[in-house]
Amino acid sequence: MVKSVPRPLVAGNWKMNGTTAMLKEPRLLAGMLRGVKLKCEVLVCPPATLARRVKAVMKGSRIKVGGQDCHWNVSGAHTGDVSAEMLKDAGCTAVIVGHSERRTNHAETDDMVAKKAKAAHAAGLIAIICIGETLDQRKSGKALEVASTQLKGSLPEGATAANTVIAYEPVWAIGTGLTPTVAEVAEVHTHIRNDLAKLMGDAGAGVRILYGGSVKPSNASELMAAANVNGALVGGASLKAPDFIGIIKAYM
Ligand code: 13P
Repeated sequence: MVKSVPRPLVAGNWKMNGTTAMLKEPRLLAGMLRGVKLKCEVLVCPPATLARRVKAVMKGSRIKVGGQDCHWNVSGAHTGDVSAEMLKDAGCTAVIVGHSERRTNHAETDDMVAKKAKAAHAAGLIAIICIGETLDQRKSGKALEVASTQLKGSLPEGATAANTVIAYEPVWAIGTGLTPTVAEVAEVHTHIRNDLAKLMGDAGAGVRILYGGSVKPSNASELMAAANVNGALVGGASLKAPDFIGIIKAYM
């Protein structure tokens, strides 16, 4: 049986940026994509405070809204946290978990990430699970080993191609303007694809593997063309609609 190639996803991670003044950007984005034939899905992940507003200004468009993190519990005494249920209630269809900034700033472990992904699934959200090596790990030849360890530890039971997306984000490429070469991206993504087959069987072939880290309009086409790259997770360049469109153009 010929396996179908997963439909790509271009997701924007606004990180801790955006107040209501920023709503003009998703509105512009929705306008610019109206009537355009797209070969990918588009997702915008604003701060949780803006999820519902972003969804409202993009009403009628195909663009979906996501969260940037969630707690593994549905509710309870977790001051400052947001649950997957809450994100779903705010109109989100997906949530990023295990971003390297969460792993570093909040000491999140693979085990915690797996619990968060499981909670996302239970709430009916797609979990976008981030993995990726530091510069030291890359320099010492451990990029593939780190990807395998993080993937195995962060992928929850019950993960399917429909409810799970993997984002490979080398920590040293995030916000630095540096990117791995296309060959290096292809090497890690193909390694992840093989690991997914080992962990999930046939379903692994349908899981989208996004590349993230300094994706810009100028490098999107070549990065997106690398083997086993099924889209992008974009930080800085997702904050301005024309830049984000410039990346989505890789799939127009
Ligand atoms: P930049 O695109 O700003 O490098 O950020 C990538 C990222 O961390 C997306 O989650």
